[in-house]
Amino acid sequence: MITAETIEKIKETARIEEVVGDFVHLKKRGSSLIGNCPFHGEKTPSFHVSVNKGIYKCFGCGVAGDSVRFVMDHEKYTYPEALKYLATKYNIEVEETVESKEQIELNSARESLYIVSQFAANYFEEQLWNSDDGKAIGLSYFKERGFREDIIKKFNLGYSPDVWDALTLEAVKNQHAEEYLEKTGLSIRNDKGKLYDRFRGRVMFPIHNFTGRVIGFGGRTLKTDKNVPKYVNSPESDIYHKSNVLYGLYHAKKAIRDQDNCYLVEGYADVLAVHQAYIENVVASSGTSLTIEQIKLISRFTQNVTILYDGDAAGIKASLRGLDMILEEGLNVKVVSFPDGDDPDSYMHKVGAGAFKTYIEEQRKDFILYKANILLAEAGKDPIKRAGIIRDIVESIAKIPDNIKASVFVRECSHLLEIEERVLLTELNAIKLAKSKKAVTSSAPKSSGYGHPDMPPDDLFAEEGAVAAPTQSTTEQISSDLLQEHEIVRLLLTFGHELATWEQTDNMYVGSFIIQNLSDVTFDNEMCNRVIDYYRTELENGQLPTINQFLRSEDEEIANLAITLTTSPYNLSENWLNKHQIYVKDESQNIKAAVLGGLYHLKKRKVDKMLTDLMNQIKEEKDVTNQDILMGRYAQVKNVERTISKFLGSVIVK
Ligand code: CTP
Ligand code: MN
Repeated sequence: MITAETIEKIKETARIEEVVGDFVHLKKRGSSLIGNCPFHGEKTPSFHVSVNKGIYKCFGCGVAGDSVRFVMDHEKYTYPEALKYLATKYNIEVEETVESKEQIELNSARESLYIVSQFAANYFEEQLWNSDDGKAIGLSYFKERGFREDIIKKFNLGYSPDVWDALTLEAVKNQHAEEYLEKTGLSIRNDKGKLYDRFRGRVMFPIHNFTGRVIGFGGRTLKTDKNVPKYVNSPESDIYHKSNVLYGLYHAKKAIRDQDNCYLVEGYADVLAVHQAYIENVVASSGTSLTIEQIKLISRFTQNVTILYDGDAAGIKASLRGLDMILEEGLNVKVVSFPDGDDPDSYMHKVGAGAFKTYIEEQRKDFILYKANILLAEAGKDPIKRAGIIRDIVESIAKIPDNIKASVFVRECSHLLEIEERVLLTELNAIKLAKSKKAVTSSAPKSSGYGHPDMPPDDLFAEEGAVAAPTQSTTEQISSDLLQEHEIVRLLLTFGHELATWEQTDNMYVGSFIIQNLSDVTFDNEMCNRVIDYYRTELENGQLPTINQFLRSEDEEIANLAITLTTSPYNLSENWLNKHQIYVKDESQNIKAAVLGGLYHLKKRKVDKMLTDLMNQIKEEKDVTNQDILMGRYAQVKNVERTISKFLGSVIVK
């Protein structure tokens, strides 16, 4: 492991303009440098490098980060590889913590597993092209299915001889230890203690990890006998974890990035067929149902996934729910389905490469609308079934982390389902609130009691049942809660280290002030929560976090959020101030207005939600005594609301 000191030194020394400048031609414009983004094709430059902040951001495709991130993404390096690259560039000596004996052994064992896997891949490939059986059985099988030689070679396809222990013998002869043959699952030990081959008489698909090393195999039988499993696969091993591998990713990753889209198919054969149609940005989950790790892997390269489905309706319906998981990761999902009975592979061979490409480009539909269509067709005119569908679809929409994107779907689905947008939004907010309530009750921080004296008492917000019933204003709620939360994070990052100079702040830092006043608030947006939690923990440890800690966070999502909020022309507070006819020339001269405005505005929303909720409870309550209690509470909260509104309307103007 590289020591923390070395990492620090590398990050301090690396100059973003030099690191990026090695790959991108940069020109000076204003206070930043700009060039053509190396991560997406463009003719007019939208790739900005900020020398002061030590970061880059592309306003075209959204990539952003610091020097280390740039090297990782551009050179497809891991974190330690990127650090070492920069260390070499700047002549920094890399200190590494001494690895334990166990660690060294573990590493060399893993290395041996890679080596024997590569050996097997070479052996199978050699068999396919050069042995009599390989050519007559294996190669001719691929050719009969219509696969071109260049594709067979590109994916290093092979053939395993129909012999008890052909590979095992060859490997042992070449000094490969039996231990590793067994651990990779290439060989199996029988009851008598003798090793034999797992793969016999099958065409072989080596599986590469995303850096291109062979980690496992799938072997397809050539028999039509139903008693023989169609595929035999390598077992899990120290180098092969099925849940975080995507078949074809190594060959697809560049195209995925260039096209900014990843096609997802089911089988090995589909990957080959789609490649053969000159579409290289394709991967398969291969047998397992899609996992979160696989989705995260894709999201390192693109935010757009297009699923190519088999045509069978039952299968499609079964997999719909699984796809919500992709939405939850914030990716955009599109789907293409094929005529009944066809999969991408059979369809490509049926219609040819050109027509196939046209087909998937023309047929791709947005997942949520596609799902809505399928379910609607199924429900027909039955009103009860239709109502069920609405819930189902809104639940999918609720999975989309980006509220603005979600509201676009609400609009489209409202047309499709012939339901008023407002009704869908009500449903959506109810689901979202239920989710955030869960989050609040499980992680609400205890009230601290040291908030700003003008502020409503902390414990007011920690009160149970503070979940608003859906109101008419939900249309607005969905997008502006996020904006509001972003605004607070932005203020925290931008002004956190300034001194809060207004009354009752005792020369406290703005950062501490904001955090103290948030002790009772849980943000809906999980990224914002993470930033706030991190900030709070640092403060509790006596450190005032700097903006760089966020801009250069190892957590890519945090870094992206920080960069977006602090570099893009983010005008919420300006709008907000305009809306209230408050004229502020330069925000930094009026930090107080911005900070108090941001905080109070958010708190007002929470109070409003509580008021609506209380009002609903009062209406439903039959017991007069209870009603009185609720009314008392309502009056209390209303008072707080008045204070806030008054404050929002007056105090800030300076
Ligand atoms: N699979 C598996 N074991 C099986 C069947 C399937 O591991 N017994 C996995 C394989 O990774 C396969 C994928 O599931 O690629 C999809 O299955 P299928 O569509 O049947 O396989 P194809 O690769 O399309 O095979 P082919 O077209 O040659 O029948
Ligand atoms: Mn198939």
